[in-house]
Amino acid sequence: MALEGRFFLAAGLAVAATCLCLTAVASAFAVPSVAFDEGYSPLFGDENLVRSSDDKSVRLLLDRRSGSGFISSDYYLHGFFSASIKLPKAYTAGVVVAFYLSNGDVYEKTHDELDFEFLGSRWGGQWRVQTNVYGNGSTARGREERYLLPFDPTLEAHRYSVLWAPTHIIFYIDDTPIREVIRHPGMGGDFPAKPMAVYATIWDGSAWATDGGKYKVNYKYAPFASEFSDLALLGCRADPVLRAPRDGGGAGCAEPDLLGLLTADYAVMTPQKRAAMRAFRARHMTYTVCYDAVRYAAGPFPECDVSDVEKESFSAWGESKNVVMKARGRGRRRGRKAGAGASAGAMSRLDVSSS
Ligand SMILES: *[C@@H]1O[C@H](CO)[C@@H](O)[C@H](O)[C@H]1NC(C)=O
Repeated sequence: MALEGRFFLAAGLAVAATCLCLTAVASAFAVPSVAFDEGYSPLFGDENLVRSSDDKSVRLLLDRRSGSGFISSDYYLHGFFSASIKLPKAYTAGVVVAFYLSNGDVYEKTHDELDFEFLGSRWGGQWRVQTNVYGNGSTARGREERYLLPFDPTLEAHRYSVLWAPTHIIFYIDDTPIREVIRHPGMGGDFPAKPMAVYATIWDGSAWATDGGKYKVNYKYAPFASEFSDLALLGCRADPVLRAPRDGGGAGCAEPDLLGLLTADYAVMTPQKRAAMRAFRARHMTYTVCYDAVRYAAGPFPECDVSDVEKESFSAWGESKNVVMKARGRGRRRGRKAGAGASAGAMSRLDVSSS
């Protein structure tokens, strides 16, 4: 039902769209970026926020004194939000880097949120990535997924992007979609629908980030430095508080902008992109809430695209049986099952209760 609605909408828009303000781009990520000052402001830990001389990139540092962060100067209702991020090197247990959208400062009890969270590791380069979706204060219903990366994210910057449309959400790593959340009527308010700001932060997540809090931040290795560049904010600016939200989520966005957003390459899931997404998820996803029958005994969320075949490679806790964290060069066997089992399950149960 949701699918039909979406295709109908997309088709209608494509016909109607003659003059687009956000014109479709040749490559999915040939998107214009802004200087820091054009789109963002410092949020906290100013002394640990270091802007480049051309203002096109920013380093966020964590040391004993403080983490740091920045926030978009505007709130947006839908859009495409992206940054190239290079993560801190070496021992980073307990360190969390986040790139996300939220309106938690405006709506205390009913906030919306879309997250990329990067969780540090005891083994240099083996960061884990978590995505999450909250709507209307649905914090009791986390929608986490976690992935390992097919590259070392500390060696060079990679692009992490969130497409947020009224109809669907897509998380990207570089050109590869890694997660799609199609708005299902059964989600109700759990689909983010109010204007959000864009945030980037680095902070001490010792209590939970690495093996459920077992490994803390070790400041002997500080400062932990993350680098943000290629800052893209292709959104529909909106007042943080919508006075008269229109049905369908279009409020705050001039119609050509919403049409342009919905028809842009990064908003359209082609069969090729969906195949790439499935391949990424099969190879790199370590946990998905959609197969976590223990936390959600009543059944998966309505938007979950559950496959019986795929489900067999996940434990009842939603952990992948095939994709597991491995210590590099520490003499562990490279077998597919190495490290899986009870401890991985326990780790995830601790992790997921924390964000
Ligand atoms: C959002 O949450 C509030 C408070 O729990 C509730 O009254 C409201 O109906 C919810 N809105 C949607 C769209 O679900």
